[in-house]
Amino acid sequence: MSDAKSQSGKPSARLLRWYDRCARDLPWRTGPAARKKGVRPDPYAVWLSEIMLQQTTVATVTPRFAEFLARWPTVDQLAATPLDEVLGQWAGLGYYARARNLHKCAVSVVTEFDGVFPQTEKELLNLPGVGAYTAAAIAAIAFDGRAIVVDGNIERVVSRYCAVETPLPASKPEIRRKAEALWPSKRSGDFAQALMDLGATICMPRNPRCADCPLQSDCAAFRRGIVSDLPRKAKKKAKPTRYGSAYVFTNQYGEVLFERRPEKGLLGGMLGLPGTDWSEEKTEGRPPADRTWRRAGVITHTFTHFHLQLAVHCAESDHRPKSGERWIAPNEAKLPTVMKKALELALEHQGDQQCLFD
Ligand code: ADE
Ligand code: SF4
Repeated sequence: MSDAKSQSGKPSARLLRWYDRCARDLPWRTGPAARKKGVRPDPYAVWLSEIMLQQTTVATVTPRFAEFLARWPTVDQLAATPLDEVLGQWAGLGYYARARNLHKCAVSVVTEFDGVFPQTEKELLNLPGVGAYTAAAIAAIAFDGRAIVVDGNIERVVSRYCAVETPLPASKPEIRRKAEALWPSKRSGDFAQALMDLGATICMPRNPRCADCPLQSDCAAFRRGIVSDLPRKAKKKAKPTRYGSAYVFTNQYGEVLFERRPEKGLLGGMLGLPGTDWSEEKTEGRPPADRTWRRAGVITHTFTHFHLQLAVHCAESDHRPKSGERWIAPNEAKLPTVMKKALELALEHQGDQQCLFD
């Protein structure tokens, strides 16, 4: 790969030539060949993919993006759907504020922009759930605007290519300036995605394949032999652990009692199991003494800012649902991953007779 031809010309031109040959085939992407023929990306699909990819990997997003787009092929259809259905379709992708903002944003595009996505970074930034990164990504990928897109992959590539020694996150402004200096005025969307692909397939976090890299001839980290030291990162604070209990009530029909979580906060608006608050105090506590409980065990789940250890207690109930509560057959509930883990543990233990709370 690193023959004379692939290493000649401006770095941006070399990277784009590499992208023309090696671009990943991704379901939301209008590849370089199609673009050359004049095919334009659908801004709605670009926006949807960028929201999904914000905190979720390409491998997880790939099938989920296709399902989502098949169910709501246009922004008008998405905007006309009740939020609950969108949250249900989002289940398992995590970071549910994204799904609520996704719906809000669809409504805003339909009501304020007649269903046509705005094109500039500045207008895009005003949309719900669209931050600086996403606005730049949509402006570049959907509209070919010269917006500087910097995600985690691009941060790593630029840190190495320019041998940025300052640790992240303090180095972010410097990385941005260096990226801007490299950014071409044409094919901005292809360039952004070329950097992403280089980061994912060549300039990987570990064992980068510098021998196959179109930027090798003038990569500062490669020249100085410090590739594996970059990007430097400031030490992170350890995540705390929180503890709590979830209650799995089962009725005579085998249904389970769920409650809708408050709109604001963690897993906002999603279905959840009833239970205690989650606190850093390591006392498990006992479930209410008004019935016979089985303790199914403990599940663990890691959120952005903490680890959770959730004890799962099961009991029978014929309780009339209060407002916000519903009896649902377990296989019909669209649940966030942590609640799915708790429910699965409870169902595995359904036959057990042992009772630890008598
Ligand atoms: N990650 C975020 N946006 C992406 C894109 N457009 N292509 C590949 N990976 C991405
Ligand atoms: Fe990354 Fe190596 Fe290419 Fe430099 S030469 S950009 S370190 S893959």
